[in-house]
Amino acid sequence: MADNVPVRLAVLVSGNGTNLQAVIDRIEAREINASIACVVSNRKDAFALRRAEQHGIPTVILELGAYASRREYDTALVEILRDHGVQLILLAGFMRILTDVMVDAFPHAIMNIHPALLPAFPGLHAQQQALDYGVRFTGCTVHFVDTGTDTGPIILQAVVPVLEGDTEETLAARIQQEEHRIYPEAVRLFCAGKISVDGRRVRILS
Ligand code: GRF
Repeated sequence: MADNVPVRLAVLVSGNGTNLQAVIDRIEAREINASIACVVSNRKDAFALRRAEQHGIPTVILELGAYASRREYDTALVEILRDHGVQLILLAGFMRILTDVMVDAFPHAIMNIHPALLPAFPGLHAQQQALDYGVRFTGCTVHFVDTGTDTGPIILQAVVPVLEGDTEETLAARIQQEEHRIYPEAVRLFCAGKISVDGRRVRILS
């Protein structure tokens, strides 16, 4: 990705799409050398689809109910992404675990943002898990995706303090501010050819 041809992205969403918006904004500001080839949602009511339409980005709705298994769903997803010539896939609030069908089709080319400092608090309700555990600091993690739940190689992390009186909502909102900073930054690094993966270690090249 070191030449100047914009990297073709796909963003997979299920909900609000604030991380999608953060990436769109950095692309439109010409800070990331990429274009979003498509936004794929597994829910037709996802507000993220509206955000994509407002920026002229093609959208695809791919609902799980139409497929007999998760692997069949992922087979259809791979075909859509290949048809769009996608080089990097961003999971941005996409509420599905990927199977080996997707992960093997795009090795080290699928990223996710998780609202905790992995490997702490993987899975759902990461902010509530942090509150329940009583940690003083949590945060967010951008990582490559493997077939586990939030287990892939870590690219970037940001630390967020837990404050007295925090609720799941207030903590989630404070973490999201950092998500919107580090997710586009990880995408920028990838698109500039500055990320290499060595086993579990991700190196950021200068
Ligand atoms: C984010 O909090 C992210 O950490 C989690 O899902 C949420 C998506 O939010 N994986 P949005 O749809 O990007 O606003």
